Amino acid sequence: MPEVLEGGNRGFPAAYHYESSSMDRGAAAKSFNALSEAVLPTMGAILVRGLPVASPQDFSQFMAQTGLKLVDYIGGVTSRPAVAPRITPTSTEPSHVSMEPHVDNPYWPKPPTHLVLYAQTPAAEGGQSILTDARGVLRQLQRDEPGILAQLKERRVRYNHFYPDRSSQSGGNVITSWQEALAADCSGSCNATIKAEANLRQGGFSFEWTPGGLRKWELSDAVKPHPVSGEESWANMITAMHCSVFDNHLDYRALNRAPSLRGVPCKMRGLMPYDTSFGDGGHFPVEMVAAIRKAQWNHSVSFDYEPGDVLLIDNYLAMHGRFSWRPEIKREIFMAMVQQG
Ligand SMILES: [Fe+2]
Repeated sequence: MPEVLEGGNRGFPAAYHYESSSMDRGAAAKSFNALSEAVLPTMGAILVRGLPVASPQDFSQFMAQTGLKLVDYIGGVTSRPAVAPRITPTSTEPSHVSMEPHVDNPYWPKPPTHLVLYAQTPAAEGGQSILTDARGVLRQLQRDEPGILAQLKERRVRYNHFYPDRSSQSGGNVITSWQEALAADCSGSCNATIKAEANLRQGGFSFEWTPGGLRKWELSDAVKPHPVSGEESWANMITAMHCSVFDNHLDYRALNRAPSLRGVPCKMRGLMPYDTSFGDGGHFPVEMVAAIRKAQWNHSVSFDYEPGDVLLIDNYLAMHGRFSWRPEIKREIFMAMVQQG
């Protein structure tokens, strides 16, 4: 992680303030849509302040009034129980975990096109948003690392997930079980295994049951055509889901590697919940992962949320992340996923 974020694009994200004497949420949603259509394709991310939204329920109603097609979060890296219709917390990872730039669910057959984040209670200290200009990342890699892009184009990316069974979780050591990730809405007489398999098949995922849980995997392109414009887009989680994340992960001490041992590729092992590799299973070279991280951080900015902020992100044109905060500090950020095109 760099000492200083310089961004590389001073107007990123585009920032606006909604001015209206009315609390008419429908009118605000209409303005929000117009802004999105006019600015998002150019800027990749828009921050809007002053919208008439003061709770997750307000946010849910606001999103419904935009007319955008909202989708559920199923089968991701962290569990996200819904708090209002189609609204979830941004992540349930512990507060001491910083999350490097990534796009959400690039391994879905049709990844979400937009993410909309709502800041109910920003952290009083820490917990800043990270945003990354993905166009800038791709430009830097095209200029400095054409060999990496050529390899990724030829060999693609494999996303590997391991979801332990709920009964095998211990010591807060595991991010999410398969029951939480794939059958969270299953209760009473519902069979969780059948529900999870139905969700997996619907999502087009490959999977296998293991004695301790479930493995699933997907092959995907690192650079994808934008679903609306067709523009080549850096839309992947190569680094944020790479096994090197666990070199210093506080909740996975058994997977930590000493700095002197980080010069060779790591691999998925133990209770590691995810990893990325080439599509053919080959490990990414250490230098390649470092070059990608460098390009991503070179085009990243960070800012403190204000209460009520709504952040609209094109999931193909901008990456997002967050910095950690102290556990005694309250922070509530909610999100909706959009599928357009
Ligand atoms: Fe995310």
